[in-house]
Amino acid sequence: MTSLPSISFSAASAPKKGCLILLTDKNNTLGTGAKTYGAIVTKAMGAAGFKGGFGKKLDIITPQGTDLDRIIVLGLGDTGELNEHSWLRLGGSIGASLTDVKKAAVVLEIPGKRGPVTPRQATDIAQGLTLSAYRFDHYKTGAKKKKTVATKVSLLTKSAAAAKSLWQSQSGVTDGVMVARDLVNEPANVLTPKEFAKRASSLKKLGCSVEILDEKAMGKLKMQALLGVSQGSRNPPRMAIIQWKGSKKKERPIAFVGKGVTFDTGGISIKPSGGMEDMKGDMGGAAAVTGLMHALAARKAKVHAIGIIALVENMPDGDAQRPGDIVTSMSGQTIEIINTDAEGRLILADALWHCNKKFKPKFMINLATLTGAILVALGNQHAGMFSNDDALSQELSTAGLATHERVWRMPLGPEYDKMIDSKNADMKNSSGRYAGSITAGQFLQRFVEKTPWAHLDVAGTAMNSPRTEVSKSWASGFGVRLLDRLVADNYED
Ligand code: BES
Ligand code: MN
Ligand code: ZN
Repeated sequence: MTSLPSISFSAASAPKKGCLILLTDKNNTLGTGAKTYGAIVTKAMGAAGFKGGFGKKLDIITPQGTDLDRIIVLGLGDTGELNEHSWLRLGGSIGASLTDVKKAAVVLEIPGKRGPVTPRQATDIAQGLTLSAYRFDHYKTGAKKKKTVATKVSLLTKSAAAAKSLWQSQSGVTDGVMVARDLVNEPANVLTPKEFAKRASSLKKLGCSVEILDEKAMGKLKMQALLGVSQGSRNPPRMAIIQWKGSKKKERPIAFVGKGVTFDTGGISIKPSGGMEDMKGDMGGAAAVTGLMHALAARKAKVHAIGIIALVENMPDGDAQRPGDIVTSMSGQTIEIINTDAEGRLILADALWHCNKKFKPKFMINLATLTGAILVALGNQHAGMFSNDDALSQELSTAGLATHERVWRMPLGPEYDKMIDSKNADMKNSSGRYAGSITAGQFLQRFVEKTPWAHLDVAGTAMNSPRTEVSKSWASGFGVRLLDRLVADNYED
């Protein structure tokens, strides 16, 4: 396991020993409390030709005339341009500066006379710091395992008590992101549908109720679209239904549904082998839903939320589904399988239908590493968003900007819907390359009826996305902070 920093908050002035981190701005202004070291730091900044642009760093070892081991100066750039995401990124930069430091005090003063950061800014920094320290290294042994130092970090803020109580909930969200990352990084020989369901069951410890459907239970429910995908695998499918009941109101729940293909070979329409190992991450949607449920439960969110994850492995085999096969989904609608590699929409069809019928939710949001085409359209910077509801889309876009887990709305419409009509069944699961992400969205829409719904295609953002200050592993945990924010800002008592 990663060794994560242990974080405390303090309102007292900085200690005189150990490592001290100070903030400055683009004009190299320091905060008033940092005055004690002002002369030393100003001199060092001048001598090094340092300018405090955002993320810039100056390391002053054994500063003369003090008992400190070092002073690290971090730049904030133009303080007028700072937003929530800047604090998260700053936390990441702090984390990167402390990889070999045992104990550090960070003087989080906004340069000039504004004093220390607010508790909320301090906890955003704490979150960035923690997320930046995440590594997936428990399969490395001996010398290959990088030694990490368990850093104790004290963050200076206006009110330590307020920051501490905020961190109690925000660290729950942070943990949720790491739960999602661990699941996505885990190889498919370990994380089978059964093992994933077992890990989802551990959310009971946080007060969730968890129901696991096995193959037989899903057969009774007539989930033949899902079971068809799974039939070529030795690893039997599962569906986990996670509930967090944190609301006092008797309102309808909100629901999140995740694609959990623990490995996607493509099935009989087999994928080329180059890069196929990445398909261990084809459960990024289910991982985000699991991480989100962890977050909501850990911070005791005042909401009734359902998380449903559909877990299968897509393998070629003598028993595998063939192109040309026709399956009857739980909804009764029939599907002609054109391409066994378009499997995500098949499992989601039954999961969304079941979710809608059983829970009559206020809305459903599904997350899925659904199409390679969304990478062609949006790259790694935005998840594709498809929705039948303008208000829900707006809320998601807003939450995306706040958390920097951004979504970009794509079109849906009857002309696209027609593209998936089949000559042999009610619909087909693939209609070729054009508008590949949209036709996948149209397919899902046929299983949500009138319920407000949004589909997030996270194929480009859940895994292998560009490394940032706060995301240094292959798996990003995308979606957990986004949806936690959506809930916090719009759906709690
Ligand atoms: N899991 C893939 C999509 C994917 C691609 C996720 C790259 C992450 C990175 C999905 O099941 C798939 O294979 N989609 C096909 C659909 C096609 C056959 C209609 C695709 O995108 O090529
Ligand atoms: Mn596929
Ligand atoms: Zn897939």
